[in-house]
Amino acid sequence: MSTTAKRPLKVFLCHAHADRDAVHALYARLTKDGVDAWLDKEKLLPGQDWELEIKKAVREADVVAVCLSKQFNQAGFRQKEVKWALDTAMEKTEREIFIIPARLEECETLESLRKWHWVDLFEDDGFEKLMLALDIRAQTVNASLNFEKKSANEIVQNSNLQLAIAYDATIQGWVQSLEWREGKNGHTSRLVDLTLRLARAMGVSEEKLEDIRIGALLHDLGYMGIPEAILNKPGVFNEDEWKIMRSHPQYAYDMLMPITYLRAAVDIPYCHHENWDGTGYPRGLKDVAIPVAARIFSVVDVYDSLTNNKPYRKSWDEEKTVKYIQEQSGKKFDPDVVAAFLKLIPL
Ligand SMILES: [Fe+2]
Repeated sequence: MSTTAKRPLKVFLCHAHADRDAVHALYARLTKDGVDAWLDKEKLLPGQDWELEIKKAVREADVVAVCLSKQFNQAGFRQKEVKWALDTAMEKTEREIFIIPARLEECETLESLRKWHWVDLFEDDGFEKLMLALDIRAQTVNASLNFEKKSANEIVQNSNLQLAIAYDATIQGWVQSLEWREGKNGHTSRLVDLTLRLARAMGVSEEKLEDIRIGALLHDLGYMGIPEAILNKPGVFNEDEWKIMRSHPQYAYDMLMPITYLRAAVDIPYCHHENWDGTGYPRGLKDVAIPVAARIFSVVDVYDSLTNNKPYRKSWDEEKTVKYIQEQSGKKFDPDVVAAFLKLIPL
């Protein structure tokens, strides 16, 4: 039956003490047919929390089957377990609970339960009719579960989108303050555009491109840790100043790694000064040990730097810059990246 298609229907069996044998037989038959039947003394743990156990079970149930009999009519509602179960069931809305009065024998159907559609288990097709009623209930429960699941997915997707927007705004703020500190304007967006073009030309997947985009945006994030007097020094750096300047990839690493959302973007900020031949910093990585995002970015970074004015030198022309990049293929740069870059020229 379809009650087991998504999750078994939870059915609480409510009965008078005197009917326990007949109800136990019904419990066994329902369980065999894939229904998650709850019969007080079979499934629950009588004891100090007996009342709580019954109320909890009824709250979690999809259906309360009230097993009616002459005994039930005489004693049922005076019996505390029945009272707890039915009072709890009545607290739920009709969408949440479904009561099936199930007559174990020919007897009166109590006034308070008459509005519910009852089944006569003592008739030949009584059990089939009960299963049909449960099947209809199972369809409603599973449809509602699917709806809730879908809604939950939409909420998660929407939250992720909100989170991505918030992070992007934070990143843009960092980039802007870095550009102000360095007295540069717009150079980061040039670098990002060209890095993404080169990465696409090299067949990098769309998924990885987002990490590359963020990594290129934050490539010099580590400059936040460098004193401004050194960062904007007009002349040549002395040895100590170089040492401090060269610590910026490590600063970037220390800032980004604790942020789960940005961790995948760390390759460029941490490794963009590594050289193909192993002479770079901070770790002296060699050839493909350098993350591909950083190998791509470093060509673009050098190209952009050389073709733009600096406080300490005038910009180079295109021809001179391209010649330098070609010369550095296999030294500073990955030869495959240089080859792909040269195909993009003129930009
Ligand atoms: Fe850098």
